[in-house]
Amino acid sequence: MNLKEYLTQQQRLVDAELDRLVPAETVEPATIHRAMRYSLFAGGKRIRPILCLEAARTVTDAWEGVLPAACSLELIHTYSLIHDDLPALDNDDYRRGKLTNHKVFGDAMAILAGDSLLTLAFQVLAELAAADDRRTRLIAELAISSGTVGGMIGGQVADLEGEGKAPNAELLESIHRAKTGALLRASLRMGAIAAGASQEAYDALSRYGEHVGLAFQIVDDILDVEESSEALGKTAGKDAAQHKITFPAVYGLEASRQMAQVECERAHAVLAPFGERAARLHELADLIVHRKS
Ligand code: IPE
Ligand code: IPE
Ligand code: MG
Ligand code: MG
Ligand code: MG
Repeated sequence: MNLKEYLTQQQRLVDAELDRLVPAETVEPATIHRAMRYSLFAGGKRIRPILCLEAARTVTDAWEGVLPAACSLELIHTYSLIHDDLPALDNDDYRRGKLTNHKVFGDAMAILAGDSLLTLAFQVLAELAAADDRRTRLIAELAISSGTVGGMIGGQVADLEGEGKAPNAELLESIHRAKTGALLRASLRMGAIAAGASQEAYDALSRYGEHVGLAFQIVDDILDVEESSEALGKTAGKDAAQHKITFPAVYGLEASRQMAQVECERAHAVLAPFGERAARLHELADLIVHRKS
């Protein structure tokens, strides 16, 4: 199966599981379920759940039980996007090729839709059919990686407070590692935990996650400069307009591209112990760096 077919297959798998996990639009209060589903099924790439599943597959053939944990990452990610787009944060009108959640449902319902996806993510993990110690580690990993200390929220705070500050390499890397890198690393770690990986495999997958996590946000910053809003499905050119601290702002486009490539090569290198079992993770690292949206 080529990469494109594989991605479509994996996205279908994730979408079907998400559909099972989220209350139907007809369940009362219906508005909130419509709002949750609107953003969740607007066409995300599903990179985080796919990385989680692939991490599990590097260590086990019995990966199906990892699907709900993989989806908990997408629930958190989609919540973070809904809130990121709010007028009080990045104030964006488009996401995943559609109007943003608050543009359709209003600010109040968009805040609640984000809250509900966040809450549901932890319900899904709490209800996971897994050994108690694995379940607890999964819950802790998702909470810490989306939390305030080095996690997604911490990164979002630094990103917002960095607006208009002088470009600063150290602050830049810490923002990116936290706001995007932490959840991407968690995707690999959660796949490893759910699959019962050895400490060595867990460490290698964590390092891979750190490298692709940083590369992912470097590329997100580059695409914001280079691509059109149509290609991205979200408003292009927003980072410069909002004076965000980004890789292109600090290093320029060419050096940023090279830095993403270096992270990609490091990601490939740490996969060596897995041999052929990590074939898709190799392809996913390249995809993250060479993607156009
Ligand atoms: C966008 O994430 C926001 C960042 C953390 C950079 P993705 O590029 O994974 O967005 P979707 O899920 O495919 O829409
Ligand atoms: C968002 O970073 C990271 C999140 C935690 C949502 P950006 O603000 O750069 O993401 P986009 O470009 O709006 O998708
Ligand atoms: Mg933002
Ligand atoms: Mg944004
Ligand atoms: Mg961006």
